[in-house]
Amino acid sequence: MLLDAQALYGGYGGMDILNGCSVAVDSDQIAVIVGPNGAGKSTAMKAVFGLLKVREGTVTFAGDEITNARPESLVRRGMAYVPQERNVFPNLTVHENLEMGAFVRSDDLSESLDRVYGLFPAMAEKRKQPAGELSGGQRQMVAIGRALMVEPKLLLLDEPTAGLSPRVMDEIFERIIAINATGVGILMVEQNAKQALAIAHRGYVLATGRNRFTDTGAALLANQEVAQSFLGG
Ligand SMILES: Nc1ncnc2c1ncn2[C@@H]1O[C@H](COP(=O)(O)OP(=O)(O)OP(=O)(O)O)[C@@H](O)[C@H]1O
Ligand SMILES: [Mg+2]
Repeated sequence: MLLDAQALYGGYGGMDILNGCSVAVDSDQIAVIVGPNGAGKSTAMKAVFGLLKVREGTVTFAGDEITNARPESLVRRGMAYVPQERNVFPNLTVHENLEMGAFVRSDDLSESLDRVYGLFPAMAEKRKQPAGELSGGQRQMVAIGRALMVEPKLLLLDEPTAGLSPRVMDEIFERIIAINATGVGILMVEQNAKQALAIAHRGYVLATGRNRFTDTGAALLANQEVAQSFLGG
């Protein structure tokens, strides 16, 4: 397993937000976390990426235990994270955003830049434009592209399609599938739960920091209880 987070507990102060949740994903897989607002989905991602202290539980990545390792060391190991909010530098150009993504690298970036522009051709056209001037969908593409600049093994995406039109959402999911096809494991949180589970090899329904349901995306979609309680019928 590329990433295996087991029985995580932790929170922001005295109180735990994560109450034993577990998530995992392999290199050739897309794993999707869904669940109500406040369930702890973003918190679980932060725990994996070293942004939240894990009080109990373990995270292993590419064979090593990395529980509570610092984000920068995780980036160097091949983990990249796109947060739910403020995930681009609005005053920097698209190109500068991509260069910033490679902050841990000191080698030649041209191959990675070519790959990102190949994946998101619209970004190549807008490379000199400030990211803050782009549409929401294009900003998400910049954010994902920025994360890809470290050539990660695992990409963590927190609500990459939030607030986007169905057409743009489909486009983002298509690119995520294409990224995964190059051998990058994907762990993502999604509010567009049905559409996301449809492309998920592994699915997790999180509620109050616990796994309520864990199965393949297809099985969760077919589960009536999941559909009624968490997917709007
Ligand atoms: N920085 C923080 N400090 C204190 N409490 C926080 C912080 N961030 C989140 N919380 C609380 O932790 C709980 C879980 O929040 P989290 O952001 O993980 O939920 P989520 O499942 O991602 O929700 P959403 O669907 O709204 O993004 C919520 O009760 C939230 O208020
Ligand atoms: Mg969230």
